[in-house]
Amino acid sequence: MIKVCLLGCGAIGQTIAENSGKKYRLIAVFDKNVNKAEEVAKISSAEVAKSFDDFLNYCKNCDVAVEAASQQAVRDCVRILEFTDLVIMSVGALRDAELLNKLISTARASGRKIHIPSGAVGGIDALKAVKGLAEEVTLTSVKHPESLKDSYFFKEKRIKVENIKERTVLFDGNAMEAVKFFPANVNVAATVSLACLGFKRTRVRIIADPGVRENYHEIRAKGSFGELCIVAKNKKHPKNPKTSYLAALSVVRLLREMAEEMRVGT
Ligand SMILES: NC(=O)c1ccc[n+]([C@@H]2O[C@H](COP(=O)([O-])OP(=O)(O)OC[C@H]3O[C@@H](n4cnc5c(N)ncnc54)[C@H](O)[C@@H]3O)[C@@H](O)[C@H]2O)c1
Repeated sequence: MIKVCLLGCGAIGQTIAENSGKKYRLIAVFDKNVNKAEEVAKISSAEVAKSFDDFLNYCKNCDVAVEAASQQAVRDCVRILEFTDLVIMSVGALRDAELLNKLISTARASGRKIHIPSGAVGGIDALKAVKGLAEEVTLTSVKHPESLKDSYFFKEKRIKVENIKERTVLFDGNAMEAVKFFPANVNVAATVSLACLGFKRTRVRIIADPGVRENYHEIRAKGSFGELCIVAKNKKHPKNPKTSYLAALSVVRLLREMAEEMRVGT
């Protein structure tokens, strides 16, 4: 049984808590919204940290901490790495090369590991395997306009979400720009970039479609290895429509695997 600390008690945090007790045990949680932290602590019998510093104290006695909060929270995670391994869900934050380097150098200095779950897509294992051979990687994400509405993109382009009445390509560019315009929606773009070609060489298309109910992600890659085409049609998390339920299942699987003898997949 591995001991886990949780930063962020929203939709993903709740799924992690519901599965506590099977291969891993949640020992402490922290959320800037104390009601959320108490709700998740109740499900899992974890302790509620009173402050971020208090949370760091719990981290000293756990095997891994999970960030499931926000891109801003990832900045605080550098300190966590001084004490324990770290799982990062808000992967979009890692487009900031300076932050990424800081996390990696802290992990190296303290002998810790950073884990990025596959999140809301499949095929990350294959993309990693063809790193160095892939010549192009394209991610196409299709979401209901409501799931995208709080994005910086709409302010910048002065487009009103309610005016999107049909399938519309909102964005076609590299992952670096995509993460900037749609920070809460493009963790998949960030994970795909980190797995293979990087943020500047990964092409991302974001499509708003009022007719879709699921979050659709398609990854296509080409190179001397052949071709890959991976599709995920994800149900939304019941607690947060922006988050695919698969993303929460993915981190639960990762935590269980840390306690298991055998790992399947790269
Ligand atoms: N990797 C992926 O594929 C993937 C998929 C979906 C969501 N995500 C990301 O994972 C994160 C969590 O997703 P969710 O659906 O659970 O979100 P959520 O909004 O349901 O919950 C986030 C929780 O974190 C708390 N929080 C935010 N910033 C905090 C901080 N600095 N310190 C303490 N608590 C903080 C909030 O109060 C909230 O309770 C988000 O950043 C989301 O973008 C990643």
